[in-house]
Amino acid sequence: MTPSPDARIFTLENTAGLRIQVMDHGATWLSCSVPLPDGSRREVLLGCASLADYQRQTAYLGATIGRYANRIGNARFVLDGQRHELAANEGRNQLHGGPVGFDRRVWHLESHTGLELVMSLVSEEGDQGFPGQMTTTVRYTLGDDLSVHVGFDATVTAPCPVNLTHHAYFNLDGDAPDADCRAHRLRIAAQEFLPVDAEYIPTGERRAVAGTGFDFRQPRQVGEALMRDEQQQLTRGYDHSYWLDAACADGSRPAAELEAGDGRVSLQLYTRLPGLQFYSGNFLAGVPAREGEYRQHAGLALEPQFSPDSPNHPEWPDCVLRPGQRYQQTLHYRFLASRVF
Ligand code: BGC
Repeated sequence: MTPSPDARIFTLENTAGLRIQVMDHGATWLSCSVPLPDGSRREVLLGCASLADYQRQTAYLGATIGRYANRIGNARFVLDGQRHELAANEGRNQLHGGPVGFDRRVWHLESHTGLELVMSLVSEEGDQGFPGQMTTTVRYTLGDDLSVHVGFDATVTAPCPVNLTHHAYFNLDGDAPDADCRAHRLRIAAQEFLPVDAEYIPTGERRAVAGTGFDFRQPRQVGEALMRDEQQQLTRGYDHSYWLDAACADGSRPAAELEAGDGRVSLQLYTRLPGLQFYSGNFLAGVPAREGEYRQHAGLALEPQFSPDSPNHPEWPDCVLRPGQRYQQTLHYRFLASRVF
């Protein structure tokens, strides 16, 4: 993004040559430049050319998402017997924390070194309809290798559903004007996914991926079974939450692995969260790019999170944070300048 007097842009770079940029608006990850063995670099994140473009796009490019990632059906939930009405921003539902979610807020700089950036945000009591005040810290850290760690730390003054995630869109073949992620190969460590209704709200069913176009247990090209299933036709492609294998929960096994079409860059994503939203960029057409506009499927998002609409599914992993508890999660994006499969 070109510098703007209205946004602060921070650069981190490690000795392995990984260089990222983040801005205070939305604690947005602006750029991820991966060094290749031949000495060249590759931009693997989708992004916009200016702050104004970031502010007008609605794809949540690179943004930090809160308080609650993805949808809450009917923009309401009952917690401890009390009903809460949220600000809706997609029909009657709430998406990604509401009309003024964390992606629309200017985060406060806490500290910045060459390898780490820490920013914080106070979401006031009642913000977007959520109970209590919530204080969040996001920490971007580079590892020794081509790793980016995005750590979240949050506390609340009243019980509240909390589902922080990151909305990076990747294209490991590089951010060209004709970028397309369909030749990427993807593996997701999940046996089940959550079917959705016509408003993209999970129906409550956990469906086996076996025998469907949702089966990424073995690496498969993103384009191979795209639009094959009725569930995908509803959402113009993949836009579903996977129920991650319990084996991922200790953080030692990747929840997802992704390989560029040309095999020169790969990504391993580690998380302890129970779910992963795989979104194949179905509505990216017309979104402002660094040059021109993106096309449908220009990039894809892999968003570790609690399952969408969990506040209305007490039978699913508990997403409620209570006073005195800390929400602590780290997403680990490990890039490789090689094949992973
Ligand atoms: C959601 C999509 C939504 C997109 C917004 C994704 O996390 O799953 O349904 O369209 O964010 O760009």
